[in-house]
Amino acid sequence: MKIALMSAAAVLALAGTAEAATLRLECGAPGPGQNVCMDSAKEWAKKTGNEVQFVATPNDSNEQLALLQQLLGSGSDKIDVLQIDVVWPGILANQLLDLKPYSKGAEKQHFASIVANNTVAGKLVAMPWYIDTGMMYYRKDLLDKYHLKAPTTWDEMTAVAKKIQGAERAAGNDKLWGYVWQGRAYEGLTCNALEWVSSFNGGTVVDAKGKVTISNPNAAKALDTAAKWVGTISPKAVLNFAEEEARGVFQSGNAVFMRNWPYAWSVMNQDGSAVKGKVGVMMLPKGGNAGRHAATLGGWQLAVSRYSKNPKLAADLLLYLTSAEAQKYRAITGSFNPTIPALYKDPDIIKASPFMAELYPTFASAVPRPSTVTTSKYNQVSNQFWNAAHDVLSGNAKSADALAQLDGTLKRLAPAGFVAAK
Ligand code: GLC
Repeated sequence: MKIALMSAAAVLALAGTAEAATLRLECGAPGPGQNVCMDSAKEWAKKTGNEVQFVATPNDSNEQLALLQQLLGSGSDKIDVLQIDVVWPGILANQLLDLKPYSKGAEKQHFASIVANNTVAGKLVAMPWYIDTGMMYYRKDLLDKYHLKAPTTWDEMTAVAKKIQGAERAAGNDKLWGYVWQGRAYEGLTCNALEWVSSFNGGTVVDAKGKVTISNPNAAKALDTAAKWVGTISPKAVLNFAEEEARGVFQSGNAVFMRNWPYAWSVMNQDGSAVKGKVGVMMLPKGGNAGRHAATLGGWQLAVSRYSKNPKLAADLLLYLTSAEAQKYRAITGSFNPTIPALYKDPDIIKASPFMAELYPTFASAVPRPSTVTTSKYNQVSNQFWNAAHDVLSGNAKSADALAQLDGTLKRLAPAGFVAAK
């Protein structure tokens, strides 16, 4: 696990210099996220005369959580401002500062549903920073070449992927795959698998009332559909792909379709990218004609650690990083979706990332993971779900058996059903 913290000597050296404070900021994200975040943090440092140190964390969301739980659990003041995943407020609430005394109502500019998600037992534990939803990227040029339309169901997608992969390979393009996505046993697989299950009307693992719903035929069908991709239109290695591995294959020109988050748009369209200008974006396919387009709601918030020695200054940095100005910069440079609805009408943003306007309904109706109702147990629930999905994808278990077993495990985690914190 990689972590770069400031050395003790550096902390002492800074402590000796005038009144400027040094804040430790943890804001990594796959792709261009770290640099974009640091640009804004440097702006703030320049404006206020303080210093910001960057704390690096692992890429995978669940690994970041493990690291933060370790640091915060020990009451460490080594991080002042941290990024938290949309599914963590219920897990980390006790370690985070209530931002209400500092925010002067700034939260009112953001999507109300995300502010509600970040409010635990009346405390505003994090400020919305960017939202994500799963989306389907595809090679417009390849679909055009074979006169194929963008698919609307998973079966159609599979057929298009197969056809193009077969024809291109026959013509010597032997590295081409039909579909890349996130199949590693980690939080990203929970997001992918929730999309499949939900698109087949198979529910959201645990429903809003706290009832475990995952053992059902639609969910099994969804997992079976995905399992058939492995080794046919998706490389076997997809079982170890996170976001960046999938993007690596797609961006080198070696895949027809890719499931990923919005950030991938900006990097794929940069100069030097093999797919620049060739990428289309669409909603993730439906699970058959009776199914629905389902995109998992993702996204990140910024929070202040309860153990920060500079809570007021840390809140000031956080408010700057989540402001409309900084979010506009992030949307244009890194295609990170703003959490401020007004920015979706900003012409500069729409020009840089047209999909933000085109897919707005998808963002507004994204499927949340069951974190509100499972609160502090969310990570265990997700861990069990991604392991069950991974077993089916790797051919180690039959979907109906894996889901029946998962149902039992989840029920044991909360014998009386899950109950959201008030
Ligand atoms: C993205 C999403 C986040 C999700 C993660 C899974 O970073 O924003 O919500 O948990 O992907 O890999």
